[in-house]
Order: sequence, then C-alpha cells, then structure tokens
Amino acid sequence: MLTDRSITTAISVRDLNFAWASGEPVLDRCTLSVPKGEFWMLLGTNGSGKSTLLRLLAGLLKPTSGDIEIGDRLGFVFQNPDHQLVMPTVGADIAFGLVSENLSFQETQQRVEESLSAVNLSQMIRRPIYALSGGQKQRIAIAGAIARHAEVLLLDEPTALLDGENQTELVASVRELVKQKNLTALWVTHRLNELDYADGAFLLERGKVVDKGDPMRLKQLLLERS
Ligand SMILES: Nc1ncnc2c1ncn2[C@@H]1O[C@H](COP(=O)(O)OP(=O)(O)OP(=O)(O)O)[C@@H](O)[C@H]1O
Ligand SMILES: [Mg+2]
Repeated sequence: MLTDRSITTAISVRDLNFAWASGEPVLDRCTLSVPKGEFWMLLGTNGSGKSTLLRLLAGLLKPTSGDIEIGDRLGFVFQNPDHQLVMPTVGADIAFGLVSENLSFQETQQRVEESLSAVNLSQMIRRPIYALSGGQKQRIAIAGAIARHAEVLLLDEPTALLDGENQTELVASVRELVKQKNLTALWVTHRLNELDYADGAFLLERGKVVDKGDPMRLKQLLLERS
C-alpha cells in the first residue's frame, strides 16, 4: 500500500552512513527528503560528500547503513557532459540510451523527438556532438533522461563548466522541465546565484545535513560566510 509519504516524497534518505574502504566516513547519519515535483539544490564545501550522496542515490555505491527510498526511473547528469555523451550525433546518442527499453524504431524516434523538443533543441537532432556548446551538451544529457522517462533527475554540478549565460539558461530550463513534467530534481552546485531557481536547498557539512529549507535564506547565509 502506498503511504502518504511515498506519494508526496520522491527522494527520502534516513540516517545514511557511508565510508570508503580506507574507513574514512563520508556520509554521517545523512537525512533528507525531496518532495515530488520540486527542484532542490545540494550545497556544501569540497569534500563534504555531495557527489558520494548522489552516487548512493543512483545505486552506484552501497551504503554502510541507513535507508534510501527513490523511484527507479532516474536520470543522472554529470559535471562534464563529455563523460556521458557517447554516440557521434545528438539523435543517435539519445536513441542509444533507449536500447534497453526494447522499443520499436518508431517509438524510439518519437521519444528522441519529444525529448529534444522538451529541451528546445529539436533542430539539432542530426548535429554531431562535437559541434555543440557545453550548455547544449548538458541539455542533450538531460534530454537522454527525459527520453527514458526519468522521474527523478540527479545533477552533479551540471553548470560547473559553463559560462554565465549558459549556466542561467540551463538552470532555468531544468526548473521549467521539472514544473512542466512534474519531475523531481536534486541539483548539486557551488554557484549561489542558482539558488534563485530552487524550491529548497540542503547544506551538507562533513556528510551531514546541517541546514535545509528556504533557498534565499541559505543563499544569504553562505554569502555572509564567504
Ligand atoms: N573513490 C574514492 N575513494 C576514496 N575516497 C574518495 C573517493 N571518492 C571521493 N572520496 C573522498 O570522499 C570525500 C567526499 O567526496 P565527494 O566527491 O563526495 O565530495 P563533494 O562534496 O562532491 O566535493 P566537490 O565539491 O569537490 O565535488 C572526500 O574526502 C573524497 O576525497
Ligand atoms: Mg562533487
């Protein structure tokens, strides 16, 4: 039976602990939840455990202890899009991500076209990957997740390599997608101006959530600290 929580919460993490083989603890009773349909950001200094937490959420690492509840239709977007775009052209890359879905040729085409339209890059379906800007590459990586009907997007510093204009475009377009398609997103960043687009934010310190909530309050707090 679905509980109220599972209806309204898309990502739930309780008392999560994780240590590398060296024994160094990285996540320390980390607890957070992200409501369905919302765009939340994860902040914290270098080494505070943000990327490790995203990898645990994606099932790429196994926690030492604690609970994770998250849907199985996940999309992961990395800091460097060159690490995840593998085919020579935009259309081929998105179609390649659909191989395990066992779709017909027509269904695949339709998913590719719909996902490109969702990120406003329909005209680039035949464009070679090397001929895209960094911001366009990130939007193609996001289109790949949309094509697979991802419900939860995990984005690890997707704007780190982008200039200011591409950064703003990307964060605005992810917010719009989340709202239009009722997705949920957890977005890791060091760039405080991106908080203007968030519904909420978490502050991670030494693997623990030490503050959470209103993104504008957290922005102010971190600006005062810097
Ligand atoms: N593969 C690994 N083996 C051992 N230790 C690791 C490994 N990957 C990361 N760590 C360590 O785990 C800790 C948390 O790293 P993590 O990458 O999660 O931090 P982060 O918050 O994402 O930092 P940044 O802002 O620099 O991206 C760091 O001390 C890091 O050195
Ligand atoms: Mg990181």
